Amino acid sequence: MPCLPAPPKHPLPIERHTGETPVTMQASNWTPATWRTHPIHQAPTYPDAAALAAAEARLAGYPPLVFAGEARRLKDALAKAAEGQAFVLQGGDCAESFADFNANSVRDTFRVLLQMAVVLTFGATVPVIKIGRMAGQFAKPRSSETETVAGVSMPSYRGDIINGPAPRASARVPDPARMETAYFQSAGRMNLLRAFANGGYADLHQVHRWNLDFVARSPLAARYQDLATRIDETLGFMAACGIGSSNTAQIRETEFYTSHEALLLPYEQALTRIDSTSGDWYGCSANFLWIGDRTRQVDGAHVAFLRGLRNPVGVKVGPTTPAGDLARLIDILNPADEPGRLTLISRMGAERVRSHLPPLLRAVQRTGRRVTWLCDPMHGNTISTAGGVKTRSFDSILAELRGFFDVLADAGARPGGVHVEMTGQPVTECVGGAHLLTEADLSERYETFCDPRLNAEQALELAFVVAAELKARRVAGAAIAA
Ligand code: PEP
Ligand code: CO
Repeated sequence: MPCLPAPPKHPLPIERHTGETPVTMQASNWTPATWRTHPIHQAPTYPDAAALAAAEARLAGYPPLVFAGEARRLKDALAKAAEGQAFVLQGGDCAESFADFNANSVRDTFRVLLQMAVVLTFGATVPVIKIGRMAGQFAKPRSSETETVAGVSMPSYRGDIINGPAPRASARVPDPARMETAYFQSAGRMNLLRAFANGGYADLHQVHRWNLDFVARSPLAARYQDLATRIDETLGFMAACGIGSSNTAQIRETEFYTSHEALLLPYEQALTRIDSTSGDWYGCSANFLWIGDRTRQVDGAHVAFLRGLRNPVGVKVGPTTPAGDLARLIDILNPADEPGRLTLISRMGAERVRSHLPPLLRAVQRTGRRVTWLCDPMHGNTISTAGGVKTRSFDSILAELRGFFDVLADAGARPGGVHVEMTGQPVTECVGGAHLLTEADLSERYETFCDPRLNAEQALELAFVVAAELKARRVAGAAIAA
């Protein structure tokens, strides 16, 4: 067992709103190790328990990667998104890779996220909260314990924080030393992100110039030109009023948060700390942590772990999520109905979002509790080509987003934002988009370690389409109100 920090000075309050008894223990009994007494899914079996305990103990002594104050700020921002006063853009790799640890990959993904955010800000006319699936997104849930590569069966690759991607059984043995590599790589990536966010790279005028370049290059330039021109005019107007990089931090800098799936609990436990200013427990591997669709069991270890942290947390909600589970998850994860605490990330698939999301949304609305709804239009839209290559179609991704916006509007709920798998590189992993990528193109630059991602152009195109949708819906809404 790793060295554990002292128990919390102020146990978390627990209130019940639905009349049901939470299945987990009282929050006051919570410690960072509570999850160990719950059934767990997707956990690797480390062959060397002593090496695992030693790695956990070292990690528990390392500095936290984020500060609790940042998580609190993000929670406040997410509360605004739930009320339509902000819009979330969460994006990045499906699986970050140790081999891809360099400035360019961090910079390029960060840059595209900023470009998307500018466009979305204009479409949504509210601040865009930028959250990277970056600097810690190293653990992957898998649908099968084993996979077959070139006719050979071997344990599945579970993300670089657990085992190696090389197609050899020996590479697939879980190695606890990888948790420390993940920690140091996360620190390196986060350091660069912070420097970019505050050091001048994120200047709004600069980001807008990149967008103008994108529009000029796009085969659909005519479609995007109007929005780009209006942003241009707005920035010009602001500059004429004396609002610019030299005197306005909001133009020069940006706030950027990190997030990942809290899948590998020994790692997450080791990075759990008591915040000295509040006496509360925080997960300090990232600002925002979420539970995946495969590990959201109400009595499971992942829910038991996240329940005791004060970070904002998320849960993926899929077509197999029982409505009753959702109400219980809300009770367990947000007993005090704290605004911004809980984000539900819908990932239904384009064909199911209009049928499967409404009953889940109603179940949440019946609880009367506050949640922030995001749409992940990626994970319900993964398909295999005839040749067995995993891909996603740009059109299905857009169709799910439109379905999500419609379903929420029909129910009188606010869409809080989007969650996408994307990269700043010109990969060929998803089909469609303005450049009409086909299945035949996929082999050109298919580089993902897990799921197919939008490339830089597709990601930005998605932002333009979503911005136009949001704007049209607002105009239509205003017309109805008038
Ligand atoms: C993911 O976000 O990479 C993922 C595995 O998603 P989900 O849990 O929704 O399947
Ligand atoms: Co994925």
